[in-house]
Amino acid sequence: MNTIIEKINQALAEVEAKAAAVVDAAAVEQIRIDYLGRNGLFPALSKEMGGVTPEERRETGRAFNAGRSRIQELIDAALARLASGDGAKGEAIDLTLPGRRWKTGHKHPITILADECVAIFRRMGFIVAEGPEIEDIFHNFDALNTPQDHPSRDPQDTFYFADGRILRTQTSPVQIRVMESHEPPVRIVAPGRVFRRDTPDATHGMNFHQIEGLYIDKGVSLADLKSVLQAFAIEMYGPRVKIRLRPHFFPFTEPSVEYDFSCIMCGGKGCPVCKHSGWIEIAGAGMVDPAVLKNVGYDPEIWSGYAFGMGIERLAMLRYRIPDLRLLYENDVRFLEQF
Ligand code: DAH
Repeated sequence: MNTIIEKINQALAEVEAKAAAVVDAAAVEQIRIDYLGRNGLFPALSKEMGGVTPEERRETGRAFNAGRSRIQELIDAALARLASGDGAKGEAIDLTLPGRRWKTGHKHPITILADECVAIFRRMGFIVAEGPEIEDIFHNFDALNTPQDHPSRDPQDTFYFADGRILRTQTSPVQIRVMESHEPPVRIVAPGRVFRRDTPDATHGMNFHQIEGLYIDKGVSLADLKSVLQAFAIEMYGPRVKIRLRPHFFPFTEPSVEYDFSCIMCGGKGCPVCKHSGWIEIAGAGMVDPAVLKNVGYDPEIWSGYAFGMGIERLAMLRYRIPDLRLLYENDVRFLEQF
């Protein structure tokens, strides 16, 4: 047997294996190109025929023709098999397979909580205000009566842009923007994103969300503030939640308080979440400092009011018993699907 016949036999074995395995028409076409195409194996062999001895010529010619038609047969059969869908992976339709489920998206837990806070405050007569996330120093610090040397202004704590603007560190500047553009009385809540140069851990992030509240009117008192916070706590966490106010300091309120909710996990008995104190720190509040009212042109002799702010992540962690704030931002759908 000469080498041409050997090559033909080898090609036949190859094509049989390949044709049996193809899953699409493009693969079949590739077989045709490789073996029968203009630059394929068979045209190349036909050129070699010239070197075959006269004795072998007949046998070789026969093998050549038989091989070429066998390959064409295998190609035709493979195409027929694909067209019928039989055994062609990817093209067959298996009617017994379950359908594919389309997942609909839903709100992120932070959005759910922010919407809920807004709904609660709207029922109490607040309207929603918004301010920019890129703020100026005046609205974020100066107008809020923050001393020039206050640590929160430090570039270690606040993200500064080259032009001197910053990413707002709190939603409190929205208070200023609302009072600048509206005559009293005002009663607003302002949910939004805030930014701080913190090292992220279980309870701190570089950006998080707050909801700010502001009520300015005639004769507003600390008792009004306490009743609104109490009503909010009950709407949010149920009738058994208590609140308490502790004296604190904020530049823009006087007096200032921090307020706690009785621990939602243990009902105030003491547990690891509340560090066995029975209380969970929620945020800050107070009576708007007369200096802030003057900064926006309100007469502090006539108008008074309260302000408060809270972290929405904190509220969400309590509501959903989320142990680590970072879970909220990793966007693992297995986590997010639970809400
Ligand atoms: N802006 C404060 C913070 O980010 C929270 C705050 C405290 C807001 C007292 C207020 C307030 O409106 O009166 O820590």
